[in-house]
Amino acid sequence: MDLGRIDSIIRSRMSGMNVPDILLYKELDSTNDYLKKMALQDTTVPEGTTVVSLCQTNGRGRSGRSFFSPQDSSLYFSILLKPTVSFEQALIITPMAAVAVYECMKELFGTELSIKWVNDLYLNNRKVCGILAEGEAVARNGISYPKYIVLGIGINLFSPNEEIPADISDKYGAVFSAEGVELPKNYADKSREEILADLIMALSAKIMSLYTASDKKGFMKTYRNASMLIGREVSYETGQGAIRTEVMDIDDDGALVCRDRFGNINHYRDGEISLIL
Ligand code: BTN
Repeated sequence: MDLGRIDSIIRSRMSGMNVPDILLYKELDSTNDYLKKMALQDTTVPEGTTVVSLCQTNGRGRSGRSFFSPQDSSLYFSILLKPTVSFEQALIITPMAAVAVYECMKELFGTELSIKWVNDLYLNNRKVCGILAEGEAVARNGISYPKYIVLGIGINLFSPNEEIPADISDKYGAVFSAEGVELPKNYADKSREEILADLIMALSAKIMSLYTASDKKGFMKTYRNASMLIGREVSYETGQGAIRTEVMDIDDDGALVCRDRFGNINHYRDGEISLIL
């Protein structure tokens, strides 16, 4: 892909607009790590600053996992946020990002993804997007606040040229290579560079608009509607083993509301789940 072309499309659209910078790279270790370093070295780097790479050599996912990041087929994107709420309240940023991806993919390409709590999006039972929000904490009056949050998103758009690692090959997916998915007519003649430029612009605008909205949790309705888990039986990893439970709802704080086999209701704010098929 031609990085200069993506850059010039974005610059021409942003010209005259007072918006934070979008920095594009051909290859980085991880867009999250790069933006974190920027934010730590210079605390005046503005909120909304975005780093994009066409490939990552050390893409990272949740729980210390790596995120397969081949060249030219996916969007690797990180945006800097500086929330003034506590770390606990800032956890809502991950579901917010999932809604931003869901809405942008629907509005731009007519593609409807499903959200798998808390940070993944799926299409045809394959993971096409992962989200990793990371930050550093500072304590004030016994409450932990983020100094900054780096919100990282990886969206697989096209089939990769590299071989998909064996451990993820049965669940790795790319939006425009999924069965039954085609680019809409207005995109049929557009280059990958134009598709990426449109998605980058739309995503950064959508994230900032959800993030600054007066109704801080208004997007949770969309999150619930797009969720692939509500009403399903799942296996929830507690840290001390897995339990089987039924997902009843997702609350406004982004917690999974589950009913166990004894009828007890539990709210889970983090952890790993897998669907029981
Ligand atoms: C996951 O699947 O657990 C989350 C994956 C998050 C991947 C994105 S790609 C852009 C940003 N940079 C990273 O190293 N990770 C995130």
